[in-house]
Amino acid sequence: MTHNKLLAPSLLSADFGNLAHDIEIINNSKADWLHIDVMDGVFVPNISFGFPVLEYVNKLSKKPLDVHLMIVEPTKFIDECKKIGAMMMNVHYEACTHLHRSVSAIRQSGMRAGVTLNPHTPVELLEDIITEVDLVLLMSVNPGFGGQKFIENTYSKISRLRSMIDRKGSKALIEVDGGVNLDNAAKIYNAGADVLVAGNAVFKADDIEEVINRFKNL
Ligand code: DX5
Ligand code: ZN
Repeated sequence: MTHNKLLAPSLLSADFGNLAHDIEIINNSKADWLHIDVMDGVFVPNISFGFPVLEYVNKLSKKPLDVHLMIVEPTKFIDECKKIGAMMMNVHYEACTHLHRSVSAIRQSGMRAGVTLNPHTPVELLEDIITEVDLVLLMSVNPGFGGQKFIENTYSKISRLRSMIDRKGSKALIEVDGGVNLDNAAKIYNAGADVLVAGNAVFKADDIEEVINRFKNL
C-alpha cells in the first residue's frame, strides 16, 4: 500500500487579481501539484477560468498541473489540456458516456488520466476500469464552489476504493477534493488518500507557506 501524502493547492481560491504572485508562493512552497478547476456553467452551476488563462498559469507554475474539468464533453478538450501542459487530466465519470474511450485517449496524448466521482457516485462503478486509470478524484463536496463543508461519507468511499485498488493490483492514486483543512487532513490521508486538494485552507490563510508546511508535516 502506498501512502504518498501529496498536496495540491487549488487555484480557484487564489487571488485572481494577483495570480502571478500566488503562483510564485506555491512555486516556492513544498506543495506537490497545482490543482486547476475548470467549470462551464452547465455541468456545475458556476464558471471559473478557461484555457487562455491557463496558458499563462502554465508559463508561471513550476508545479505539475492537476487539471479538474467540471464540464460536459471533457474529451473535446484533450488537445487544449495537453497544450497548457497538464500533467493530469481529470474527467468526471458523470460526464463521460464512453469513459474507457476517454481514458484511453487522454493517456494516448501523453497525459495521465484521472476519473472524478461526484459525492453520490459509488466507487464500485470503477471496478472494471480501475487498472487503467492513473488517479481517482473523489469529490468530498458537490463541485462548483470552494469553501464548502467536507461530506463525511467520503471516508467510507476512500477505504472502499483503497481496497478495490489493492485487490485489483491497480496503481491508481486516490485524490480527495473539497472541504479539506488541517483539522481533517490526517484522517483523510489515514483513510487511504494519496493526494489532498486544498483551496480555502491554503489560499485564505495569513501565511500560505506555513499552512503548506503543516499539511506536509502531518
Ligand atoms: C470544487 C473544486 C475544488 C475547490 C476546493 O468544485 O473542485 O477543487 O477548489 O476548494 P476548498 O478546498 O475550499 O473546498
Ligand atoms: Zn477540483
